[in-house]
Amino acid sequence: MKILIVGSGGREHALAWKIAQSPKAEKIYCAPGNAGIAEYAQCVDIKAMEFDKLAAFAKKEQIDLTVVGMDDPLVGGIVDVFEAQGLRIFGPRKNAAILEGSKAFSKDLMKKYGIPTAAYENFDDPEAALNYLETKAEFPIVLKADGLALGKGVLICQNLEEAKAGVKAIMEDKQFGAAGNRMVIEEFMTGREVSVLSFVDGKTIRPMTSAQDHKRAGDGDTGLNTGGMGTFSPSPFYTKEVEEFCEKYIFQPTVDAMAAEGREFKGIIFFGLMLTQKGPRVLEYNARFGDPEAQVVLPRMKNDIADVFEACIDGTLEKTDLQFEENACVCVVLASSGYPVKYEKGYEIRGLESFKDKDGYYVFHAGSAFRDGKIVTNGGRVLGVTAKGEDLKAARANAYEAVQWIDFDNKYYRNDIGKAIDEA
Ligand code: AMP
Ligand code: GLY
Repeated sequence: MKILIVGSGGREHALAWKIAQSPKAEKIYCAPGNAGIAEYAQCVDIKAMEFDKLAAFAKKEQIDLTVVGMDDPLVGGIVDVFEAQGLRIFGPRKNAAILEGSKAFSKDLMKKYGIPTAAYENFDDPEAALNYLETKAEFPIVLKADGLALGKGVLICQNLEEAKAGVKAIMEDKQFGAAGNRMVIEEFMTGREVSVLSFVDGKTIRPMTSAQDHKRAGDGDTGLNTGGMGTFSPSPFYTKEVEEFCEKYIFQPTVDAMAAEGREFKGIIFFGLMLTQKGPRVLEYNARFGDPEAQVVLPRMKNDIADVFEACIDGTLEKTDLQFEENACVCVVLASSGYPVKYEKGYEIRGLESFKDKDGYYVFHAGSAFRDGKIVTNGGRVLGVTAKGEDLKAARANAYEAVQWIDFDNKYYRNDIGKAIDEA
């Protein structure tokens, strides 16, 4: 098979690495890709939102399967464009990717079908939102821009004053652009967060092993929210009991609800869960692999991923038994200092060769580029240094050892990825 991956981050690097293990993968392309992905795939200079150019490329190169890593093209309808031209593509159509593309939609869906989540109200008018905050709200409270906002459109407000400023930022100043045309105001919950990614074929769902992300920039969960500073898998807090609850009340009900709404979902559903005192609750849905969740989940997956993608497209996932190794994996993101606000790029990355031929160690590139025959930093998140181990403690020790193999100016990382496992 000739396979095209759409995207350019650490998640897409992990996907390219995993797809390359498949005996079926004869040639892999990635648009636009990065310097690390180039080891497994031929990078093509087409942007993820250039659907017509991507489809023309897929036709010209006789691509057998396209896999979309990112949220924007899915929510924007890339799958519909490809399907209309008879091209095979893995991911939800536009009418199903709305599960991630609109938080107001996903909250209404959960309410209608009784899927456990935080209590909420949707607003498309700032006056009504302010009135609600003044008369009915309990603090802290959570404000969410309805649309895609690079994971930054969520504000946790401690009091009325902060919440009023939040409504202004989202709905009036449009800090997150059109994503803030509507807004969700929701109950603040507390508990452990767990990410569960799953394959879906429209009717059947096959959850992957669990993971946990670290969204804040600084040690001890301080600082600003980022795209994710590191992950570990599995989560020790995602017990058999929690898993059974989620399968019965969250996972299959979500797939069935989408089908019942005439929005059959094929692709990845990423459940962002919070394990509250009252049980697991959905924080958010994503319609794609997590980044950097994919970096710790895919190295532990035993199946040929090309087979699983095909089963999802063909509606035969029922026959697939997903299998994961009985070990653990930890990813520590190496970022450019200043991320997620302001940072410099273009510094040489040294030490990448240390990962060659080291079983169970991986360096997934998030933001890198070639310059004058060298690989240089090219983003806020630069690399995802990843290692397996027989358990979480061993994987964490291995990952932090490998972090020392890499060197670049302004290298920054969190020292406490996976620290929560000490409390498990
Ligand atoms: P989301 O993009 O919806 O996952 O939100 C980003 C982050 O905000 C989550 O990972 C949580 O840490 C936090 N968050 C979102 N919703 C809530 C909530 N209802 N209560 C507490 N924290 C929340
Ligand atoms: N790591 C969180 C996400 O991919 O949305």
